[in-house]
Amino acid sequence: MSNENIQNSLKVIVNPNTGRTLHEEGRIVEIKADQNELLFKYKRDGITPEQKRAIETIVINIATPTYSADKVTVLTVSENSADVFAGKTFTKPEEKAAPAQIKTGHGPAGQNKKRVQNAKKVIAVSSNKGGVGKSTVSVNLAFALKQQGKKVGLLDADIYGPSMPMLLNQRAAKPGATPEKKILPIDAYGIPFISFGLFISEKDPVIWRGPMLGGVLNQFLFDVAWPELDYLIIDLPPGTGDMQLSMIQATDIDGVVVVSTPQDVAVLDSKKGLNMFSQVKVPVLGMVENMSYFVPDDAPTKKYYIFGEGGVKKAAQELNVNLLAEIPLEIALREGSDNGKPYMNEKKHEGRPVWDAYMNLAKNIEACFSAPAEEGAPKGFFKRLFS
Ligand SMILES: Nc1ncnc2c1ncn2[C@@H]1O[C@H](COP(=O)(O)OP(=O)(O)OP(=O)(O)O)[C@@H](O)[C@H]1O
Ligand SMILES: [Mg+2]
Repeated sequence: MSNENIQNSLKVIVNPNTGRTLHEEGRIVEIKADQNELLFKYKRDGITPEQKRAIETIVINIATPTYSADKVTVLTVSENSADVFAGKTFTKPEEKAAPAQIKTGHGPAGQNKKRVQNAKKVIAVSSNKGGVGKSTVSVNLAFALKQQGKKVGLLDADIYGPSMPMLLNQRAAKPGATPEKKILPIDAYGIPFISFGLFISEKDPVIWRGPMLGGVLNQFLFDVAWPELDYLIIDLPPGTGDMQLSMIQATDIDGVVVVSTPQDVAVLDSKKGLNMFSQVKVPVLGMVENMSYFVPDDAPTKKYYIFGEGGVKKAAQELNVNLLAEIPLEIALREGSDNGKPYMNEKKHEGRPVWDAYMNLAKNIEACFSAPAEEGAPKGFFKRLFS
């Protein structure tokens, strides 16, 4: 594993008290990774000894097998509260070397940008905020593509809120392994899927999910025995922090779809998100507006713009990206999710506004990959893809 990858993996270690990364909280004082040794120094204020040991384990999991465990040093720095109260302008850090004696789990695989096996196209679904319908879009886009004859797989990479086992009615499923020790995806209504939720108990504290970010994440992304797929859809964790960056940096992704709701689309946030993708050269296929308007069950031609009209369209225009779909609110969509019966897998919804919106979304995604641009395609449709 390259130095850069190790550094990125270290940055996404999570503070168990807050669920935010040490990097985001400005706790990382120093990371020194040369050919022989790795030094990781962080501010540990508020972190208990038990949590500190867990962080050490994570560092070692990330660093090995690139470094042998005895070449890994974890230092902590803490500010002395007594000094702070005495009104001193600076405090002398207390440094303690932690012996790196534990070696468990899997080391991350090497190389930048690895390709997920057997998937012709890998699409990540992202959002700047939580709760905008990212998982609903991932699942129903997968079924819409399946309705159009494509072979699709689903990967729920949202370690904080893995919801796919619920959306697909597979909460009790336990993935098996091939003789080569690859994870076997679970079949849900003809779609193979894998979710962090299948490996972690909902009661597990966030700290135990930390190692997923470093070592096991790579295994989870790349050691799944996917069947031959036209599309693999990845449901990313919400937001545009270090963790998301590290995930998209490690994976060869063919395109990303950004989900927003009309009231939750801040151009500045979206810009930040788009910048993140362009930094790591992941093409942005476009934005999806979810919950665009409400359609009552008994009056499918009516549209109620509960959150205002055209919010995401306007943002997409300003940001010069495609608007791939406007998906209405329908009670049946929410009910389908709650009952583990994906809306787009039920032919009875055919012709409903949400059905049509998802079918269009699937077609637009296909169009993004079929070059050259057909006449009449939206302006700038391929701009980001092939620039
Ligand atoms: N178009 C829609 N119509 C009706 N309900 C919807 C629609 N989109 C999403 N929902 C509902 O809104 C809720 C949030 O959706 P979802 O879980 O997909 O969001 P998310 O962005 O993945 O959230 P998180 O950040 O928690 O992962 C769910 O109850 C879902 O069923
Ligand atoms: Mg979700």
